[in-house]
Amino acid sequence: MKKIVVIAGATGNLGGKIVNALLARNVEIRAIVRLGTDVKKVEELERKGVKVFEVDTTNKSEISKHCHGAHCFVSALAGLRETVMDTQKIFLDAAVHAKVKRFIPSDYSSDFTNLIDGQNRNLDLRREFHRYIEKMPIEVTTIFNGPFMDLLITDMPLILFKQKRILCWGNPNQIIEFTTTFNVAEFTAEAAIDDNTPRYLRIAGDRISCNDFVKLMSHLTSENYKIFRPGGIKLLNFLIKVTRFFSPSKKELYPAWQGMQYMRDMMEGRIIFHEYDNSRYINIKWTSVKDFLIQEKFSNK
Ligand SMILES: NC(=O)c1ccc[n+]([C@@H]2O[C@H](COP(=O)([O-])OP(=O)(O)OC[C@H]3O[C@@H](n4cnc5c(N)ncnc54)[C@H](OP(=O)(O)O)[C@@H]3O)[C@@H](O)[C@H]2O)c1
Repeated sequence: MKKIVVIAGATGNLGGKIVNALLARNVEIRAIVRLGTDVKKVEELERKGVKVFEVDTTNKSEISKHCHGAHCFVSALAGLRETVMDTQKIFLDAAVHAKVKRFIPSDYSSDFTNLIDGQNRNLDLRREFHRYIEKMPIEVTTIFNGPFMDLLITDMPLILFKQKRILCWGNPNQIIEFTTTFNVAEFTAEAAIDDNTPRYLRIAGDRISCNDFVKLMSHLTSENYKIFRPGGIKLLNFLIKVTRFFSPSKKELYPAWQGMQYMRDMMEGRIIFHEYDNSRYINIKWTSVKDFLIQEKFSNK
């Protein structure tokens, strides 16, 4: 019999890729979407064979009905408190009520277990959700994957392609983990149908420092890349405070200061590097930063 996986956030970037990875694994997929979700995205999911349920996300019993018989509830929601805490709690309660075996919360980040409360708004919300989830009678598995590798060519100001610089705060030998969203999705799909997973699973498509980036980019482009180091972690912390103070909106998910908080956490050295679970599912082929940049034709940037 096919395993049933319920997913929230299937209309999003990572959620959509998790859906594709689950489809490739012959799973029955039920997507819970909120009222008013883009019709085109719902139709696209339905075309792929996903059963989509548009629900009032405050209605636990309605959501619970759609969870009956499911092996796992995967959350790939993105948002601030009203989503990560309020809506995710309702989804979790609904899954518990329907006796779903496992819940995968929407974490998919660097390992935040050793970070300090009050330093990273978006990750603090996930830590707060963990305090709630730990008390619930359901298996929970968090996936830690470091920053999405995809961000290297979009929103993360680390490789400064035009200036031929690597922006580095603090220690240029500090290791950073990166994983493509494609690999995160494949791994999440495997974990969702696994019969027995631990509380935490940690993966990294690649591990690379700013100094390694200099070597890699110089090699790939035959240009002379260098480190650009405006200062250390203390200066970055100061800039975060100032930028946050002058930030016009408190409701934006990724304002500049939030990006800087992620950068500080990557570079500060508080993230503990554990053993990786990459080899847990042998059919996953991990993409390195080098292969990703080549594949994405970074040279056009
Ligand atoms: N490690 C990294 O570098 C990194 C980078 C980016 C994201 N992430 C994490 O990956 C996860 C997914 O992010 P993403 O970028 O894929 O998100 P996304 O593309 O913005 O998609 C968010 C999804 O959540 C749904 N959603 C948001 N608020 C909701 C609510 N209140 N009720 C119901 N559904 C709601 C959206 O539905 P609608 O279609 O209805 O809007 C959409 O399906 C998050 O945990 C995020 O923090 C990690």
